[in-house]
Amino acid sequence: TLTPGTMASISVLLVARVMPYLEQELTKRYNLIRMWDYPQKAQLLAEHASSIRAVVGNSGNGADAELIDSLPKLEIVSSFSVGVDKIDLDKCKEKGIRVSNTPDVLTDEVADLTIGLILAVLRRICECDRYVRSGKWKLGNYKLTTKFSGKTVGIIGLGRIGSAVAKRAEAFNCSISYYSRSEKKDSKYKYYPSVVELASNCHVLVVACPLTEETHHIVNREVLNALGPKGILINIGRGKHVDEPELVSALLEGRVGGAGIDVFENEPHVPEELFGLENVVLLPHVGSATVETRTDMADLVLGNLEAHFLGKPLLTPLV
Ligand code: DGY
Repeated sequence: TLTPGTMASISVLLVARVMPYLEQELTKRYNLIRMWDYPQKAQLLAEHASSIRAVVGNSGNGADAELIDSLPKLEIVSSFSVGVDKIDLDKCKEKGIRVSNTPDVLTDEVADLTIGLILAVLRRICECDRYVRSGKWKLGNYKLTTKFSGKTVGIIGLGRIGSAVAKRAEAFNCSISYYSRSEKKDSKYKYYPSVVELASNCHVLVVACPLTEETHHIVNREVLNALGPKGILINIGRGKHVDEPELVSALLEGRVGGAGIDVFENEPHVPEELFGLENVVLLPHVGSATVETRTDMADLVLGNLEAHFLGKPLLTPLV
């Protein structure tokens, strides 16, 4: 029988650049194959396709149908992320391949950063910092900004992260409203059955739902116009939740008041038109990126793989 000590012969394919701790632990425990060591995918497959039993990816690189179909011994895809939009879940289900992700451990981190982004946009924290550094303070005080406390926060997706954002915004005396596929009967927050209605009735619109076919471009021109010049958009979900060219023109034309964006449609590409806008805060997809949280996420990836190979239930199974 397999024990933690005899797993070294199991081939695991790493398809994403992950934190050194996770890569080192995977290297210690398994026969780790790193995708980027094989510039030609054909060579990787010729050498290892028949032995790879697990794939480890992240929010940017997962396992699509083509990869899954090319690995006949694949048993599990373990994602170093909570979002699994880069994994073909239907294909995994069809082939009986297990899937795990990293929920819960990153909820606080992403919700904290969401509040940080809201404050940064409304209080213009990044612009104020640039003002001081450029020596402009000597020429006069910085212009007045916008209060957050007491505003209405509209959340798209009242799951783990959306609920954690709501809890934090309540501490700022905000009113909370939300959109989701159906009303949450046990929720005290105001439900809107349409995103346009939600956007028309809030100051801060937060995207916090998983990316699926249904939620692709859930924030479109109509939603942005409904949010209006006094509203701000905060995206900590996925870039593809937002029609990016529409957001860029809404910001350039002043149809939306500002935006805090952690995720983009084609990362690491960021539309250059945004670079000149002071009412926009741009982050390089760092919602969960702290040492503490990424270490917890890595431990979940390792724990899920170990549970699988020891024949135990997964810690955070998705499929
Ligand atoms: C996730 O976990 O899905 C984040 O986007 C990246 O950590």
